[in-house]
Amino acid sequence: MTAACGRMVRLFPAPPEEVAVEGTWLADRLHEQSGPERPFVYASFVCSLDGRIALRDPATGTGRLPAVLASASDFRLLLELQAQADCVITHAGYMRDIAAGRLDDILQVGRPEPGADLARWRLENGLSAQPAVVIASASLDFTVPSSLARNGQRVIVATGHGAPADRLEALRRQGHEVIEAGDGSSVEGGPLVRALGLRGFRSLYLLAGPRLFDTALRDGVLSRLYLTTTHRLLGGEAFDTMLAGPALGDAGVRLRLSSLHYDPMVPDGPGQCFTRLEGPAATAS
Ligand SMILES: NC(=O)c1ccc[n+]([C@@H]2O[C@H](COP(=O)([O-])OP(=O)(O)OC[C@H]3O[C@@H](n4cnc5c(N)ncnc54)[C@H](OP(=O)(O)O)[C@@H]3O)[C@@H](O)[C@H]2O)c1
Repeated sequence: MTAACGRMVRLFPAPPEEVAVEGTWLADRLHEQSGPERPFVYASFVCSLDGRIALRDPATGTGRLPAVLASASDFRLLLELQAQADCVITHAGYMRDIAAGRLDDILQVGRPEPGADLARWRLENGLSAQPAVVIASASLDFTVPSSLARNGQRVIVATGHGAPADRLEALRRQGHEVIEAGDGSSVEGGPLVRALGLRGFRSLYLLAGPRLFDTALRDGVLSRLYLTTTHRLLGGEAFDTMLAGPALGDAGVRLRLSSLHYDPMVPDGPGQCFTRLEGPAATAS
């Protein structure tokens, strides 16, 4: 079976079927999956066959997703996940990257161009024009991007009870809503998700890195993981994987496969698998 450009093969659930990439994750209707008082929390990563989500520059220690792992298909699917969020949870590291011009600002649905149709999709499907944005930080050393105010997006800063009091006060004076969710200076997944649920959010997209993913998984609030595996081995001694914390016990944490798609063409030939896995919060409900 071959998949043309922009198409891929659904391998699981059987029987295999050729489908368009566009619309595949939108069909999940994540904004309608929450339980009472329990938002639906989902995350996504792109990784290599040897489990790297980023390689670190030995000189600076800065990590980056190598361009050879990425494709137009996985970016489109990421934008479809973001389009279904009533709240995107991200972090101060991304704010610093935006401010320094190291990464593009993708905090608005419908921008950049490959997702232009998604802004209309949100409105047609009962979501607000743009998602609220949670920025997690222990240091509180970041600037809120001006694009959020320009687009009327609600901004919530999440931090721990031990966060620097002067910076917390400064953020409050600027009019930003603050959630203190965590006993130390870091944000803990369980308290954050409960606080956002109380504010009425239903679909929370973790557009974040290993630390937030780790705490959401450990606290049992992760409902679903969307994992893109690019069929390349990277090696390297300094790298990141999806998790930041200590071992998860002898048995680890089990995620249940609910769908598997394969695109043999991207990026540049080696192919990618798009795996949808149900997390502890989905299994518990
Ligand atoms: N391949 C992929 O799909 C993928 C996805 C995401 C990230 N990555 C890569 O993975 C590497 C590391 O990820 P990252 O830098 O995005 O994220 P990270 O290392 O998990 O966190 C970066 C910053 O976010 C804030 N933060 C994160 N979790 C927090 C928590 N629980 N409480 C308080 N603050 C928290 C901290 O900011 P403060 O210092 O202000 O406290 C932290 O320094 C990067 O190289 C990135 O490019 C790859």
